[in-house]
Amino acid sequence: MIEQTTQTETELARLPVTCIQDVLLARMIVRQESARMGFPPQLVTQIATATSEITRNVVEHSGGVGQARILEVAEPLRRGLKIAVQDTGSGIPDVKRVLAGTSPGAGIPGCRRVMDEFGITSESRRGTTVTMLKWLPLVPRQT
Ligand SMILES: Nc1ncnc2c1ncn2[C@@H]1O[C@H](COP(=O)(O)OP(=O)(O)O)[C@@H](O)[C@H]1O
Ligand SMILES: [Mg+2]
Repeated sequence: MIEQTTQTETELARLPVTCIQDVLLARMIVRQESARMGFPPQLVTQIATATSEITRNVVEHSGGVGQARILEVAEPLRRGLKIAVQDTGSGIPDVKRVLAGTSPGAGIPGCRRVMDEFGITSESRRGTTVTMLKWLPLVPRQT
């Protein structure tokens, strides 16, 4: 029998994404929370940058409004930080092309590269949802 992994999510923050100030706030919260969880500085910066890229996209490209949720994910052997950004804007016409990095910007492919899990769904005139996660491996206890 395959054992099912138990996973729990705790919402740390939820904020609207409507303007550049919201982008900066989301970045700051992710910085704080990832540092608190024990991510090393380099990863803190990467996760914060990915958060600001994705929330900035809502403001710059979607033409709509969005919401960012920041969650701590816990499994028996690891914890992670999850960022979910949803908007009710225009949607991305060709997500595959954007992910392939052949579109002008390198924002989304760059975020996918630095995160451990990255998902994007987009529907024309309905909006876009990006969910990304970075795992913090548990360090074995020193004896
Ligand atoms: N939330 C969004 N809503 C609508 N279109 C988006 C959204 N995010 C990204 N896009 C589209 O995908 C393209 C690629 O995004 P990205 O990789 O972040 O590069 P950049 O923002 O530098 O153009 C954008 O130029 C835009 O056309
Ligand atoms: Mg961008």
